[in-house]
Amino acid sequence: MLPFRKHFLRVAGPLVIALTLLLLTACGAYDAPQTTLDPKGSSSRIILDLYKVIGVMAAIVFVVVEGLLVYSVVRFRRRPDDGIPLQIHGNQPIEIVWTIIPLAVLIVAFGATVIAIHDINTPGKGTIMNVTVVGHQWWWEFQYPVQPGISRPISTANEIHIPAGQNVHFHITSHDVIHSFWIPQVQRQVDANPGEDNAVYTKVDQPGTYDGMCYEYCGDAHAWMKARMIVQSPAQFYAWTRAQEQSATSPSSALALQGQKVFSSNTCINCHTLSYTGSHASGIVGPNLTHLASRWTIGAGAAPMDKQDLAAWIRNPSDYKPGTLMPDYPALSKKDLSALVAYLINLK
Ligand code: CUA
Repeated sequence: MLPFRKHFLRVAGPLVIALTLLLLTACGAYDAPQTTLDPKGSSSRIILDLYKVIGVMAAIVFVVVEGLLVYSVVRFRRRPDDGIPLQIHGNQPIEIVWTIIPLAVLIVAFGATVIAIHDINTPGKGTIMNVTVVGHQWWWEFQYPVQPGISRPISTANEIHIPAGQNVHFHITSHDVIHSFWIPQVQRQVDANPGEDNAVYTKVDQPGTYDGMCYEYCGDAHAWMKARMIVQSPAQFYAWTRAQEQSATSPSSALALQGQKVFSSNTCINCHTLSYTGSHASGIVGPNLTHLASRWTIGAGAAPMDKQDLAAWIRNPSDYKPGTLMPDYPALSKKDLSALVAYLINLK
């Protein structure tokens, strides 16, 4: 071996290992890693099990084939006075054996895949909760129709709540272009196509918070189309749905009351819904704001939900999320902006 290559390998090998370990540690630092290797939902568990079956089969094939290859290269390497080696072309038993073995491997892989596809597309037994997931440029809408335990339709954005231990049927669709909904630890990835109702079934056993994002390039702010799934105990979940079924909290101060007026007299109402008696805000282009402050983030993960960020977001959303369809509001006076924020930040 050349000295340079020797030296290079001695440095590069450990460097690659160190970088890989560093990346893995960095991945582990997130609250909710977007990984398929630690499944929490029934549907992603089925996929990981399939990967394991096929991974083990592939590993066995690799070891056997490479082992035989290396053995043959060493054992039967050409020696100085060797002639032409034994020719096996047309040897029927060998042809049959090396056709049957790969065929058997592929039949097992195919069978396991068909079973996994079937299991993933079979709703769990017992009651099923229905949630419609609508992709928008560039945020997620989650609608809960009236069903056992939910007495008024709920519409929320970017944070989907489900009860632990409950079979859930997500109806995936889109308002505009093709998006793709995936919470890797919980369910399989599925495209959100306009006019279609793509089914995803899953059941998560333990409460927890799981993150995901849009997985289909859908335009300017595709990278800021995050989703968070909050799996709660049934008691916590139904406390959440009861709160979400309510109209917006009434303004609790003069400033907040002023904020409500600012909201209803500006173009906010063209795009957003905010329900309270007498509200004219019923837009569906942007997220429903009735319980805005119950969410953790603004703009599908673009900013944390707090007063400063909310004010800066309303003034200039494209600072946080280039390409967002929400226009900037340079004309809003400082006073009106702070009143608006005082109102919105209390809409739990
Ligand atoms: Cu929506 Cu990418």
